[in-house]
Amino acid sequence: MKFAAHLLACWILGTSLGSCSNADENAAAAHQTPAAPTEAAAPVKSPANRAYSTPRTTGPVPRNPDMNLPANFKKDAGVTFSRVSVSEPYVAMTFDDGPHPQNTPRLLDMLRDRNIKATFYVIGRNVDLYPSVVRRIVAEGHEIGNHTYTHRNLTKLGHDAVLSELNKTRDAIVKAAGVQPRTMRPPYGALLQTQREWIRSELGYPTILWSVDPRDWQRPGPSVVTSRILSGATPGAIILSHDLHAPTVDAMPATLDGLLRKGYKFVTVSQLLAMKPAEAPAQAANDNEQ
Ligand code: NI
Repeated sequence: MKFAAHLLACWILGTSLGSCSNADENAAAAHQTPAAPTEAAAPVKSPANRAYSTPRTTGPVPRNPDMNLPANFKKDAGVTFSRVSVSEPYVAMTFDDGPHPQNTPRLLDMLRDRNIKATFYVIGRNVDLYPSVVRRIVAEGHEIGNHTYTHRNLTKLGHDAVLSELNKTRDAIVKAAGVQPRTMRPPYGALLQTQREWIRSELGYPTILWSVDPRDWQRPGPSVVTSRILSGATPGAIILSHDLHAPTVDAMPATLDGLLRKGYKFVTVSQLLAMKPAEAPAQAANDNEQ
């Protein structure tokens, strides 16, 4: 009933104000466009997943193996990462811009079915709106990363404003779920080298970018998102996607199953970072792997 009521509200709003998904699309377009205006992202709404029905799973889904891997990456592990050199086919799935009240729980169901732990780069403002979703993310063993409070382009902000964006988000995460984020991802991937360095030294966060970008924010359709991720994945990849968007979550069953069938094993970003010194000690001096 709640869903139906939401659909109705969405339809009513949609007839007078335009598409109900505009806020999503604007936020998505802003996410990936470094030249975008620096105003705060569009106000967060709770758009209905129009015409969505959970994809039926026929037969057992592949399962990520149980792994007890350390997540305590070293202080000198590096400042920026877009991937990590590993000898095993590990990948880290990352989901940005949530939590979202419908899409994130739906994604969590899919991850739980496959024993996959992912990393969620949450927007602090959304954490304050949907703390119970953050609690569930943490309770189910996923990692939370800091994606700032209002999703602004940090290269346009001074030291104190950047600090405030990150600390407000950290405080929201701690308040919601009792854990500290250990890494950060800048909105639009935009962060000056000097900012990356002081954020690492003052706050302890490595800057996490990505090596696979399916451009899901452009809404190319779930099958395209899936094929881009499957063709782009390599051992040590950090894969970008957005649980803000329903079509991205729609793409995940085929994406996750495809990666598992190719032999990939899913770890969190911190677990991937923690592999680096052990896996590539000879490259310790060359620790900026983007
Ligand atoms: Ni983002």
